[in-house]
Amino acid sequence: MVKFALCMDCHKDVHGGQFSKAPYFDHCEKCHSETSFHKSAMTLTLHQKTNFKLTGGHVAVACIDCHKPIGEKGPVRYHFEDLSCTQCHQDPHRGEFAERMAKGREHDTGCSVCHSTKAWKDLAAFNHSSTTFELKGAHQSVTCLECHRPPNMERTLKNVNYKQAPTKCEECHENIHGPQFVRKGSGVTLCADCHTDVKWRPANFDHEKTIFSLKGAHENVRCKLCHATFQDVNGKSVLFYKPTPTACSACHGNMLKSTAA
Ligand code: HEC
Ligand code: HEC
Ligand code: HEC
Ligand code: HEC
Ligand code: HEC
Ligand code: HEC
Ligand code: HEC
Ligand code: HEC
Ligand code: HEC
Ligand code: HEC
Repeated sequence: MVKFALCMDCHKDVHGGQFSKAPYFDHCEKCHSETSFHKSAMTLTLHQKTNFKLTGGHVAVACIDCHKPIGEKGPVRYHFEDLSCTQCHQDPHRGEFAERMAKGREHDTGCSVCHSTKAWKDLAAFNHSSTTFELKGAHQSVTCLECHRPPNMERTLKNVNYKQAPTKCEECHENIHGPQFVRKGSGVTLCADCHTDVKWRPANFDHEKTIFSLKGAHENVRCKLCHATFQDVNGKSVLFYKPTPTACSACHGNMLKSTAA
């Protein structure tokens, strides 16, 4: 080989050997020309051929924000041991999602199980159905903050402890029925006994399981024609379904009783 054939014969490698292997083999001219070392041929297009494509918000990030000097006086870092998001970004979630991130699929691990490079608010990769609480029915249009309460007086989701969100209806919704539907023994009213998350219509409630069947003449009679007993519970007027008389005569008088008999 002719002496002085390589740029390196005369110029010091300022990159600390980072480009000594394939595909560069310290050929400075792969990235530089004789015009200036401060310009490199490493354009965005070429960057997309590296192990790290610049996507989303990363396209607009200045080179130096990712490529910083190693240590105090070392060369600028162009190779990273690990290309995961945490190489450059701190986990603001205090490790809350460690388990979920570890379980992510092959190309979808770490922070990417929820985030993309578009913007931190883009959570398209996160599916709420993968939590213990699926968002369906009316809950689909509820904002995150209504269920995930931030600490102190904050108004963002930043410091939310997601695992603290209650999962039972009665932990989030106020019981408007007073004590009448309290489950014996537990002291709790289980909303899901009668309600679903679609509407407050008592879809799970089956009148046929009460002591009074509505079959026949009463099938289309409006609830409030039989249930109209209100009582005061802690200053609020509550409709009580029990007791409601069951004897025909209590509601129809003796006339009907005799015809029905
Ligand atoms: C025979 C020795 C020699 C070789 C080989 C050589 N250069 Fe140079 N180069 C110099 C000298 C001497 C200077 C002027 C002194 C200086 O600025 O360092 C210079 C200057 C430069 C400059 C301007 C420096 C600046 O700061 O702007 C660039 C860019 C450069 N060379 C690039 C290259 C590249 C790329 C190669 C390989 C294709 C190369 N050189 C090969 C000796 C060499
Ligand atoms: C894979 C591409 C690549 C290769 C190969 C490469 N460089 Fe660079 N080099 C860069 C980039 C990118 C910069 C930063 C350019 C800028 O300032 O915007 C840079 C900056 C420089 C600078 C100026 C910054 C400083 O720290 O002083 C010098 C001098 C330099 N390179 C020398 C070399 C020499 C000598 C070689 C061959 C041994 C070489 N480079 C090989 C990409 C490369
Ligand atoms: C968002 C962060 C980020 C930005 C912005 C960025 N890079 Fe990179 N760059 C990386 C990562 C990560 C790698 C891959 C490192 C690896 O393979 O170990 C890389 C690789 C490189 C390499 C080495 C290529 C190779 O084949 O080994 C060079 C040179 C480089 N970048 C230059 C630049 C230049 C010049 C810019 C600005 C135009 C830039 N980078 C912008 C993160 C970034
Ligand atoms: C090599 C370093 C590096 C790696 C690896 C990296 N980033 Fe970044 N990223 C940056 C830098 C630097 C910025 C700009 C400064 C900032 O916003 O923190 C940035 C910005 C962002 C932004 C903000 C975009 C905006 O405009 O709001 C998002 C979102 C992002 N990165 C997501 C990710 C995700 C997701 C990963 C993993 C798949 C990742 N980053 C990996 C360095 C990196
Ligand atoms: C289980 C899903 C999930 C995972 C995994 C996750 N995040 Fe988040 N992250 C969120 C949610 C939800 C928000 C709040 C978004 C909003 O404010 O709209 C958020 C917000 C952020 C924000 C913006 C915080 C702010 O200032 O408002 C950053 C930065 C962030 N995450 C980084 C990370 C990093 C880094 C990782 C990986 C270590 C990660 N996240 C993993 C769900 C996740
Ligand atoms: C109707 C209430 C409700 C709404 C609305 C809601 N969540 Fe949740 N979320 C929950 C409940 C309940 C859990 C489960 C808590 C547990 O596992 O103990 C949960 C869990 C989570 C988790 C934790 C996942 C994990 O790995 O543990 C994240 C992240 C999350 N929600 C983000 C969001 C985001 C982002 C939104 C808005 C798009 C949102 N949630 C809207 C109730 C809700
Ligand atoms: C983590 C808290 C949380 C849990 C658990 C929860 N909800 Fe909700 N739900 C909300 C919030 C917040 C809203 C929206 C505000 C509101 O309408 O009260 C909502 C709205 C609703 C609505 C729509 C109300 C309307 O007027 O449109 C229904 C119906 C409902 N929830 C039923 C249920 C049922 C049934 C369960 C149990 C299976 C349940 N919710 C569990 C927080 C929760
Ligand atoms: C034993 C059955 C039962 C249980 C348990 C039950 N509900 Fe109801 N709920 C009803 C019935 C019946 C209605 C009246 C429906 C109607 O008038 O169409 C109703 C109506 C409602 C309404 C709508 C009131 C209105 O004025 O429109 C809300 C809100 C409600 N329930 C919340 C709850 C909550 C919260 C819980 C759990 C703490 C709960 N319910 C438990 C049977 C039940
Ligand atoms: C023809 C009269 C009649 C009509 C119409 C009627 N009910 Fe009833 N309902 C009763 C009687 C009688 C009882 C039994 C009361 C008791 O056990 O003391 C009862 C019991 C109930 C209970 C108490 C269940 C329990 O065991 O705690 C609920 C809740 C209830 N009805 C809801 C409704 C709703 C909702 C409607 C309308 C869809 C309705 N009822 C229509 C007569 C009626
Ligand atoms: C808790 C009150 C209540 C009880 C108990 C009750 N009913 Fe009724 N019943 C009603 C109401 C309210 C209507 C609807 C009346 C209306 O639409 O004007 C009705 C309607 C009827 C009708 C239809 C009448 C018409 O004009 O179409 C018949 C038949 C009837 N009841 C028979 C009975 C018999 C038989 C019993 C006893 C097994 C009985 N009811 C018990 C409240 C009750």
